[in-house]
Amino acid sequence: MKKTLLSGVKATGTVHIGNYFGAMRQFVDRQDDFRQFIFIANYHSLTSVSDGALLQKLTLELAMDYLAIGVDPKKTTLFLQSDVPEVTELAWIFNTITTVPYLMRAHAYKDAEAKNKEVNVGLFDYPILMAADILIYGADVVPVGLDQKQHIEIARDTAQKFNRTFGETFTVPEPMILEEVQTIMGTDGRKMSKSYGNGIGLFASDEEIRKAVMSIPTDSKGVEEPKDPETCKVFYFHKLVSGNDLESIRARYLAGGIGYKESKDILFENMRAFIEPMRARREEIARDPEAVIQVLRDGGVVARAEAQKKMSEVREKVGLILK
Ligand code: TRP
Repeated sequence: MKKTLLSGVKATGTVHIGNYFGAMRQFVDRQDDFRQFIFIANYHSLTSVSDGALLQKLTLELAMDYLAIGVDPKKTTLFLQSDVPEVTELAWIFNTITTVPYLMRAHAYKDAEAKNKEVNVGLFDYPILMAADILIYGADVVPVGLDQKQHIEIARDTAQKFNRTFGETFTVPEPMILEEVQTIMGTDGRKMSKSYGNGIGLFASDEEIRKAVMSIPTDSKGVEEPKDPETCKVFYFHKLVSGNDLESIRARYLAGGIGYKESKDILFENMRAFIEPMRARREEIARDPEAVIQVLRDGGVVARAEAQKKMSEVREKVGLILK
């Protein structure tokens, strides 16, 4: 029996190669080994997006992005969080066994508080909805970045508390903090982030790729001088996309004889070769949004059936069913 792997992804707009190497790729790599559920966390997005048209657009685009990188609906159940409204019911039940001081210790809440943001109740309760997401499908493993580790701990605590209170019901999930889930550097050397404008779009045009590559800062060493590949920001990107060329580029860096201009030209070609097929696929998918919506609907039906099974058990255990 394959283990169940589940993850929620939030739509934030254009994805960059940092998102791909940092997180998205693993869902393609793992879909053969796990029974995989991926949903777009649109209920969670509501804690920060209050524009219906925008949320709709971001959601559909994110689904297209995942299909374009190779998430295969035949292997992965890809769906919308909101197509399984049972998770909100379960979150409510979890709310009743969760204390306020416990949730006040969550990083996301504390950070928002520290910045004097007006925290909505949804944001405060975010970890409990996430616990419901994870537990309702009986997930065994949840791959996340380090920033989400505490949320998985909250899901584990919640499963254990429910099981203690009402009897064995939920699988206690394991976090999967993957080594690949690290921060990818942007073209300016800081963390790649949409807000810094230092990203390379995962579906970027050739012109955008060229501009981003050419903007990578280098030192002033001349062509013939030996160079340290490990401190060169151009070489950093070679490591992501230059596969077969990598060792020869490394050797030329160490020996001298390759200038940054040539290194960037090679990087541009390799980056293009990496992005182009995904971009073509993304364009093809975008031509038929109805088909994408249908994929999500089908996934929702599968996920919901699973969730409803678990919820009958939960409703019965907490005393909502009269017999
Ligand atoms: N909180 C996650 C994020 O911000 C998204 C998410 C929602 C999630 N529900 C989840 C991740 C369940 C893993 C499992 O990225």
